[in-house]
Amino acid sequence: MGRIQCAKLAQKVVSAEKAASLIASGSTVGMSGFTGSGYPKAVPMALALRMEEARAAGHPFRVRVWTGASTGPELDGALARADGIEFRLPFNTDPYLRERINRGEMDYVDMHLSQVAPMAWQGFLGTLDTAVVEVSGVAADGALIPSSSVGNNKTWLDQAKSIILEVNAWQNEALEGMHDIYYGTALPPDRVPIPLTKPDQRIGEPYFRCDLDKVVAVVETNAPDRNAPFAAPDAAAKAIAGHLVEFFRHEVARRRLPQSLLPLQSGVGNVANAVLTGLLDAPFENMTSYTEVIQDGMLDLLAAGKLRMASATAFSLSPEAAERINADMKSFRDRMILRPQEISNHPELVRRLGCVAMNGLIEADIYGRVNSTHVMGSRIQNGIGGSGDFARNAYLSIFMTPSTAKGGAISAIVPMASHVDHISQDVQILVTEQGLADLRGLSPRQRAAVIIANCAHPDYRPMLEDYFARAEKGSYGRQSPCLLGEALSWHQRFVETGTMKI
Ligand code: COA
Repeated sequence: MGRIQCAKLAQKVVSAEKAASLIASGSTVGMSGFTGSGYPKAVPMALALRMEEARAAGHPFRVRVWTGASTGPELDGALARADGIEFRLPFNTDPYLRERINRGEMDYVDMHLSQVAPMAWQGFLGTLDTAVVEVSGVAADGALIPSSSVGNNKTWLDQAKSIILEVNAWQNEALEGMHDIYYGTALPPDRVPIPLTKPDQRIGEPYFRCDLDKVVAVVETNAPDRNAPFAAPDAAAKAIAGHLVEFFRHEVARRRLPQSLLPLQSGVGNVANAVLTGLLDAPFENMTSYTEVIQDGMLDLLAAGKLRMASATAFSLSPEAAERINADMKSFRDRMILRPQEISNHPELVRRLGCVAMNGLIEADIYGRVNSTHVMGSRIQNGIGGSGDFARNAYLSIFMTPSTAKGGAISAIVPMASHVDHISQDVQILVTEQGLADLRGLSPRQRAAVIIANCAHPDYRPMLEDYFARAEKGSYGRQSPCLLGEALSWHQRFVETGTMKI
């Protein structure tokens, strides 16, 4: 029976096409997947084919798709190309889907990732018709062995009227036992504190429970997870990592951080990954992480013995790193725990553990308000993801970015953020390759002075100094000086001329 040890489910094995035929147009589908890990691969591809055929015959076929976070090209990419998604939550990084969203052809709800499951239980998201969940195997009693991500799978399996399982033989069998699925969540007034006090603590069980009668199809696959490779750290990313390591040393010397630091959260993207790589040569030992994804840099820290353990909800590994971990899963597995995203990102736990949050951004303004999501205030890049779960509640909330984007045509430090995901109170440290601004305890005007001096690119620093000096004189109020007619003019200039420079 191979990966499907349960006789009742083994009888339900069908082709991906047959399974996809059970999903109706207009229905809501909860898919597994968090970054390019653990998402279903065969059923969405077969569904996309059905959608294309239906459209060619003059019948639009679209579904509403909920996931853990972003997924891979066989899911978001395939369904977007088939124009098969009418509504999507809570996060996306697929370029085709991004284009459709930005053309206004579908609805996209960009959510705090910790809040998706509770909101689904509260009933705010509507009814879930079908769950399509990748697992790495099924035990004899029907317990489901999770795959390379956990995400919202527990909630989808519990809530969906029917379930389609993909059992992926590509996933390493040694994943069994690595997961910690907590079944103690409840809505107010029945909520109780989550009993987790250390990043390496297990509070749940290694399997998903599932009502086997709801399973309408099981599809066997053997297909790799697909994450985009990380870019090799460039000079800017290395400089950002250098500033942060120096800052951590300083905080340790001042006894505001222990030598092992505090549980690290590291966001998605190239810069965040580069910072982890920078920690390899830093003098911190026995570090832990309480984070959302385990990416390449974290694997390197585990392999080097610098990181004692990592808790997350998913792997987010380049193809090379995925190969590496698969070849050596036994040596890594006892040092990693994958949890549901409502636990990996839980504000209560992030605050209790005292996490150090490190996230990327699109732009920050001179007061430290951060835009993580919208280019020029209107075009979605990815989404807020877990950055808000961590930034608001962390012991230290750090945001980092190169000081310019698009070859210098855009300043990442602007007079006023064109969209705000993180208010200034949630942004304590801002880092670019130019330097680091420690904003703790500073007033808005003090913050502006430090951010302009330490973080802005020299091409834009004089423009910001000039703006701030005039705002201090001509603003309606002086607490957070701004020139209302000019504050977003840099963005307007970029839209009109292709550069923020004058
Ligand atoms: N204006 C226009 N485009 C910008 C920009 C700006 N101010 N800042 C960044 N970008 C673009 C880059 O040019 C790049 O585009 P490309 O893919 O076409 O080359 C893209 O955004 C990624 O930027 P990069 O500099 O490579 O940084 P990154 O990979 O570290 O990603 C974010 C930065 C903000 C997009 C990413 O961190 C993100 O999505 N954050 C929000 C979610 C989050 O924080 N999740 C983690 C929580 S656990």
